[in-house]
Amino acid sequence: MSRDIVYLNGSFLPVHEATVSVMDRGFLFGDGVYEVIPVYGGRAFRLEHHLQRLDLSLQGVRIANPLDHVQWSDILIALIRHNGGGDQSIYLQVTRGVAPTRDHAFPADVQPTVFAMSTPLTEPAAAVRAGVAAVTIDDIRWKHCNIKAITLLPNVLMRQQALDAGAAEAILLRDGLATEGAASNLFIVSGGTVLTPPKSNLLLPGITRDLVVELCQAHGIPCCEADISADELRSADEVWISSSTREVVPITRLDDAPVGDGKPGPLWQQVSALYSAYKQDFRAGKVQ
Ligand code: PDD
Repeated sequence: MSRDIVYLNGSFLPVHEATVSVMDRGFLFGDGVYEVIPVYGGRAFRLEHHLQRLDLSLQGVRIANPLDHVQWSDILIALIRHNGGGDQSIYLQVTRGVAPTRDHAFPADVQPTVFAMSTPLTEPAAAVRAGVAAVTIDDIRWKHCNIKAITLLPNVLMRQQALDAGAAEAILLRDGLATEGAASNLFIVSGGTVLTPPKSNLLLPGITRDLVVELCQAHGIPCCEADISADELRSADEVWISSSTREVVPITRLDDAPVGDGKPGPLWQQVSALYSAYKQDFRAGKVQ
């Protein structure tokens, strides 16, 4: 079974045979949106949540979704199977399509380009679970961060700035508030309560974030949405980031100072265990 089969505009084919025109608006303008969906035990995790967010992203950039949820689901099931089932990370993107000329204005009568691929997904490494470093960086993005746009140059630059500083993630500050990571959502623990910034146009409504909030609520862990100032971030007992590919990661150093006692905190331990148990239930077909 091949492990490099991708989906492009109606066909499944090896990745080296998949080509897109240089006139594609995604290539010329970054004019498109995407999703990243983890697959556990051959099944797409929280698929409906991802497809709903895809709808919102497409609406946000005024591209009509060329596929309904059943069609998306059928394509992704086939893609997962073509790539050997098991654990994978599915990347999908929809661009505005191939236009006859390079013009900022929307082209008339173009078909969106639909692409999806699979990459291997491994369990978070022990070194990551032991805690990673983050640095704070001024958020240089636009004001539609709730749209999962493929136009990721600011995120790329901020993530690289963090890596260059020896950190695993950039935590973004805007007008004195911490919003999210360059490719993740943000949680802090303060006085025994888990806090995460409320959804707004300044951050991506993460699917992992929502699951963490759900798990806290279901298990009696105090959790609420609240603005997090840079000072609150720095004095937090625990800081975590979350994403579909990294799950929930403890930040144990922030801007070269320890977070709390410099070790993953007790609430992270609890939430991480709940997250793993939920994944196990999903693999076993006990949750959808
Ligand atoms: N990024 N915020 C940003 C800016 C992100 O790019 C991501 C995920 C998240 C977390 O969202 P979710 O829990 O739905 O993965 C928050 C993906 C993984 C990426 O760009 O590869």
